[in-house]
Amino acid sequence: IKKFAVIGNPIAHSRSPEIHQAFGREMSIRLHYDKILAPLDQFADTVHDFFAQGGSGLNVTVPFKEQAFLLCNHLTERAKAAHAVNTLWMEKDQIHGDNTDGAGLVNALNLLNWPLDNSRILILGAGGATRGVVLPLAQAGALEIVIANRTQSRADSLVADLSPFISQSAQNTSLSTSTLVDLTGHFDIIINATSASLDGSAITLPYTLTFDYAYEMAYGKPSSFIEHAKQKDVPTADGLGMLVGQAAEAFFVWNGVRPSIESAL
Ligand code: ATR
Repeated sequence: IKKFAVIGNPIAHSRSPEIHQAFGREMSIRLHYDKILAPLDQFADTVHDFFAQGGSGLNVTVPFKEQAFLLCNHLTERAKAAHAVNTLWMEKDQIHGDNTDGAGLVNALNLLNWPLDNSRILILGAGGATRGVVLPLAQAGALEIVIANRTQSRADSLVADLSPFISQSAQNTSLSTSTLVDLTGHFDIIINATSASLDGSAITLPYTLTFDYAYEMAYGKPSSFIEHAKQKDVPTADGLGMLVGQAAEAFFVWNGVRPSIESAL
């Protein structure tokens, strides 16, 4: 029986065990999946203990994704682009890290049948949540990605960091930045990757901005972003699909088989 876990602080709210146990049942793979609360100053020790005791794979959540990135001996390209790791495993005494958040979002959008190929995508926010998804969205065929942030300089430095990855493996995608107030024109998909929904604050978008589909990365709480989109009669979805999607991708990285996101949802 394989042992997996998700590590974070706090961790009690995590739904990863339910999701991975559902995947295990579906794929007939026997597994344990625990929640590990790591003390804020003992992330690395807790990871080493888990693998020393025979653990097969770890998911990493807030606030440790960047520490996980720094701990790895080997990183996938998408983990390097994200500068964060949410999926760890050991091979020949070396720690390997991947980031499946962006693939999770792409999986969720595909399941919704929202068009990514040749699309114009607007991402609100320029923090870690945005950094994790830009390269996978570009690789999924986005023609144009605009990153709009309250503080434009932060979006500019994010684009500077990500540009080498885009030139390397998604040359057809153009990346640019904007402030929120200057946004105008039409996008196929708008994605809210700000933390505004988490603290309940509203994001005000210009009246002239239009879009066909609206995705909220957060989940579980009513969000003013979703309300705004609904008032425009635009189809909406929240981040539960992305959560299950990133879990499915991590399950694939560890076990080599792809579980169904739809049945887990
Ligand atoms: P995360 O890792 O979740 O992305 P973060 O790195 O703290 O979190 O980034 C939060 C993002 O949400 C930032 O882009 C932030 O904008 P600023 O860079 O201008 O601070 C954005 N954000 C948070 N609250 C917001 C609000 N009320 N309106 C607009 N943007 C907001």
